[in-house]
Amino acid sequence: MAQRILVADELASEGLQALKASGMEFDEKIGLTVEQLAAEVGNYDALIVRSKAKVPAKVLANPGKLRIIARAGVGVDTIDLDAATSKGILVINTAAASTLSTAEHALALMFALARKIPAGHAHVSAGPAKWEKAKYQGTQLAGKTLGVVGLGRIGQTVASRALAMEMKVIGYDPYFSGQSALDGKVLLFRDFDQFLAQCDVITFHVPGGEGTKHLINRERLFGGKVKPNLLVINDARGEVVDEFALADALREKKIAGAAIDVFVKEPPAQDHPLFKLDNVVLTPHLGAQTDEAQTAVSVDACTAIIAYLKSGEIRGAVNAGGIKLDLPPDEAPLMGLAQRIGMLLNGVNEGGIKQITLRASGTRAPKHMNTLLRLAAVELLRPHLTDPVNVINVEHVARERNIELVQIHEPEPPQGLVGDIVGVRVVSAAGESHRILGTVYADGLPRVLRIDGFAMDMVPEGTMVVVLNKDQPGVIGTVGTMFGDAKVNIADMVISREVQKDGTAHALMLIKTDSNPGEDLVKRLKASPGIVRVKHVELPKRA
Ligand code: MLT
Repeated sequence: MAQRILVADELASEGLQALKASGMEFDEKIGLTVEQLAAEVGNYDALIVRSKAKVPAKVLANPGKLRIIARAGVGVDTIDLDAATSKGILVINTAAASTLSTAEHALALMFALARKIPAGHAHVSAGPAKWEKAKYQGTQLAGKTLGVVGLGRIGQTVASRALAMEMKVIGYDPYFSGQSALDGKVLLFRDFDQFLAQCDVITFHVPGGEGTKHLINRERLFGGKVKPNLLVINDARGEVVDEFALADALREKKIAGAAIDVFVKEPPAQDHPLFKLDNVVLTPHLGAQTDEAQTAVSVDACTAIIAYLKSGEIRGAVNAGGIKLDLPPDEAPLMGLAQRIGMLLNGVNEGGIKQITLRASGTRAPKHMNTLLRLAAVELLRPHLTDPVNVINVEHVARERNIELVQIHEPEPPQGLVGDIVGVRVVSAAGESHRILGTVYADGLPRVLRIDGFAMDMVPEGTMVVVLNKDQPGVIGTVGTMFGDAKVNIADMVISREVQKDGTAHALMLIKTDSNPGEDLVKRLKASPGIVRVKHVELPKRA
């Protein structure tokens, strides 16, 4: 069935052209209410939004076939990320596309505020009668200290340009490691109040949300923690600044000015406290509103959607935990290996799952442990769940059920093996533990090399029956006869033997059949003397 994309906000035409060129079906439905969007999304594989269309949990309650949401822009505060993740929906953004425009806008606000440009403009355009130059005397920026909050892409772009303007630039970013940024030119502070006390101008480039709420608040503005000449620039998100406290501080001249592009509620209410103050500059969320940025976010969002739907390539992921699904040809088979190991482990594991551990050794497998672990865990958990599980929500699903996911990079392959070895161990709630080791040979086919202590070399594929039996005469013959009687043809089979410490031996038969063995045969096999465990698992056929 053709993949379908819903474009729920106006996008620059260049992105829509890319959708058309890809041959994918898309509908533009602009201005849908939350209820209308909720009723529509399930019919689409992908949703693209800018800032008007909101995606709260309600929209994702019945996501149908929706697999990916692209935000044409940076902030994803209009999308309920937890809801998307728990439903297994990938969320992506176009973080780089609007960096320059947003940074330039912050600098434009800084200039406009420092040099009273909007007020000067209003004065002149009101008529030439007055020419009160002195009223619009501003502040020179060179030599002043600019504090940049958030040293991500936009913050660094603002900082580098401010340095070129001979400002002293300092930074605050708890997620930035190191003492300084931009080759030592931006000194980083760990204490926000110490940082704030130094600033002549402060500019925010953070994502918003609880972690950065009200960084500028009443206590800081009125508690002697800021310079009286401070200029506040907010091009990030409204909640970063307490708007009411800011308005009071401006009115009482506790600080010199504020330039605000973003508001807690957009558009702001008629009686917003920042309106009608003479030391403010206000713009309607224009950071990324340039021809260039709008084209770039549209193209980046649309091409990222196409790439994901066509090849699984993940660009600009917000909730995918760093996984990569479009591996190069020599590494891609490792993904199928991890999935098949997960499926096959269900053939040996009994009871609930407490822990899943992926170990990887070699040169290629360790690069993708997170992806491989998620792929294996999805297959291990799928048969036990009624809700859909995939690589996006598997961590969330596991966490909710107290299942620990662990990844370990082994410097050397397990004894007796070479190359890229992927091992997955599953531990049940009762403490039972099983492990499968596998690899991919040069032919690109996955191989199972060990199941617990049983050594083998087999391509895991198609219909498989795992039989654990006591190593005693006659069992193999009985099993063969029972398959024959049930008219189930054995296509391939490996038998491996393991002698326990107490001298008893067990054998594991890994049987590939041409048809489904059916419940009856499995039941009869289980009841047969010498047989300890029988499980039927379905794996994908060889591609
Ligand atoms: C963004 O998050 O991309 C910016 O705030 C621009 C916008 O939403 O218009």
